[in-house]
Amino acid sequence: MVKLLYVCLGNICRSPMAEAFMQHAVTKAGLKDKFQIESAATSRWESGNPPHIGTKKILATHGIETVNMFSRQVTIADFNEFDAIYGMDRHNIEDLNSICPTEFLHKIHLFMDSVEGKQGLDVPDPWYTDNFALTYQLISEGCSAQLKQLQDTKLD
Ligand code: 4NP
Repeated sequence: MVKLLYVCLGNICRSPMAEAFMQHAVTKAGLKDKFQIESAATSRWESGNPPHIGTKKILATHGIETVNMFSRQVTIADFNEFDAIYGMDRHNIEDLNSICPTEFLHKIHLFMDSVEGKQGLDVPDPWYTDNFALTYQLISEGCSAQLKQLQDTKLD
């Protein structure tokens, strides 16, 4: 079982998009039972709220549903629980690094670092840009690269 946590500021735009995309991708690949995929926020601003309508709409155009997803804040227990924690931008990474126990710091990754040639890039926040299509494009690239990397490792 591989446990992945996607993290952004509000957990209503980018990280739930990544959670839903990856859940769909592993299901399509016949690997649903090998993965636990969740998402969370660095803030409590949107706690309890469902994904943003822009996230739901762009996912729906690609045949991906969001059901029973509600924003929650990252907890200290998450750093022990999950195998990899992907922050969507450098601010998320700073926030995660500042609360993560030292022994688990190696689990934190910038999301786009998974994509050859796009290392170091932030996934822009559509809460501010309103560009959900660009967010989806980057998230599909990142999640697809992560799935490929994980498939190349041992999936027990
Ligand atoms: P997200 O976008 O981090 O991609 O979920 C945001 C959602 C809400 C807010 C900021 C960013 N907000 O200020 O409430």
